[in-house]
Amino acid sequence: MKKVYVKTFGCQMNVYDSVRMLDLLKNLGYEETLILDDADMVIFNTCHIREKASEKIFSELGKYKELKLDRKKQNKSFVIIVAGCVVQAESEEFLNRAKFVDIAIGPQSYHRLPQMLFELQKKNKKRIIDVEFPAVPKFDSLPETKSRGVSSFLAIQEGCDRFCSYCVVPYTRGAEYSRLRDDIMREAYQLAESGTKELVLLGQNVNTWCEKDASGKIKKNLADLIEDLSQIDEIKRIRYVTSYPSDFSVDLMNMHKNNKKVMPYLHLPIQSGSDAILKAMNRKYTVSQYEDIILNLREKCPDIALSSDFIVGFPGETETDFDKTLSLVKRVEYAQSYSFMYSPRPGTPAAVLANQIPEKIKGERLEILQKLLLEQHSNFNKKFVGQCVEVLVEEKAKKKSELLGHSPHMQNVVVSADPKYIGSFISVKIVSAGATTLVGKLENNF
Ligand code: 5AD
Ligand code: SF4
Repeated sequence: MKKVYVKTFGCQMNVYDSVRMLDLLKNLGYEETLILDDADMVIFNTCHIREKASEKIFSELGKYKELKLDRKKQNKSFVIIVAGCVVQAESEEFLNRAKFVDIAIGPQSYHRLPQMLFELQKKNKKRIIDVEFPAVPKFDSLPETKSRGVSSFLAIQEGCDRFCSYCVVPYTRGAEYSRLRDDIMREAYQLAESGTKELVLLGQNVNTWCEKDASGKIKKNLADLIEDLSQIDEIKRIRYVTSYPSDFSVDLMNMHKNNKKVMPYLHLPIQSGSDAILKAMNRKYTVSQYEDIILNLREKCPDIALSSDFIVGFPGETETDFDKTLSLVKRVEYAQSYSFMYSPRPGTPAAVLANQIPEKIKGERLEILQKLLLEQHSNFNKKFVGQCVEVLVEEKAKKKSELLGHSPHMQNVVVSADPKYIGSFISVKIVSAGATTLVGKLENNF
């Protein structure tokens, strides 16, 4: 069997795409290896969202280049496939710098991988590049999938029409597209049959998922889809990311309240606590509209854990704007969060704004914000000390005798227990908690 090594940078959608590329390759007789030196082929799935992510790419590619040269000396082949958003956004520039890449595919065309490999190997093509947005959506031509653990990603929506002024996603992933309900259900059943107990539904703007009738009227929305998915017995937990505040519906709020399989965790990025910055970012809501959503949601589900993304140092962000972000954070109190320095991305409107903020100031603001957020995460987690939480055990933890899983509120939970519990729900009594992880003792399994 030929072996393929997969390296994924970036978001959960990239992780999902890598899994689906592996599904395609398995049908061609490849198996995955976690050891690069054993591989006959590498798939490198790239991320373009911030400059830092893009920077790391060339050092990673250097390793593959060396391996390819070594193999050449031994008269052996080593196929380098680069996929993902960097390829989509900068294919020409990128490929000029990386001449040793055999196949370059954008996120919308990876279903053509088998055909590309055929052309490369049987027709002796030198190099294949495909960054099209094909008319036939890739989801229609992907093979069956299997669970790769108890918690599985399932892409239900892709692309984004929001065009936030800092973001590359609408350019790299294209326009919003919803997969058909029946296709999603089929994939969910395949996953459930092969051991998935938790589904994480993915979409760049997941709230816009819908199915329309012939006249264009919405027949089903995300809440309806979640309801349908929750009828699958083996699926015990459902999550979804990423939500956009003004697309987050009352139906979804009610779903959190009424459907026990929908976990009490919501990632609802606000990005900034200043209305002026939100406007400059082309985010279509105000701070008070965002807080109204949170208020309503907390009325319905008082224990919900909230998470957000933040960008500091967006062009034109004043000290006052930044203070507004800090105040907003203090009012909301987040259980989790992700925060970044603004990174100008080529081709996005914000990158050419005149009033860019110096890196030093961005760094200082990020440090202040992260300190506050970490305190909040820690406070949230500490409330669980002494309580029993239900944990879905996913894998071995770093320390050998420990296992790692997630609580309903999406906290990492580490517990000393027999590996036989991997894949099961267990009850864990929490004994200590930090900003990122809860540590507990096994009470019993369900
Ligand atoms: N600079 C910094 N952060 C960004 N994000 C997206 N684009 C940029 C950028 N140019 C962040 C946003 C988004 C998350 C996935 O990445 O906070 O929600
Ligand atoms: Fe990017 Fe904005 Fe779309 Fe999110 S909503 S993917 S930040 S354009």
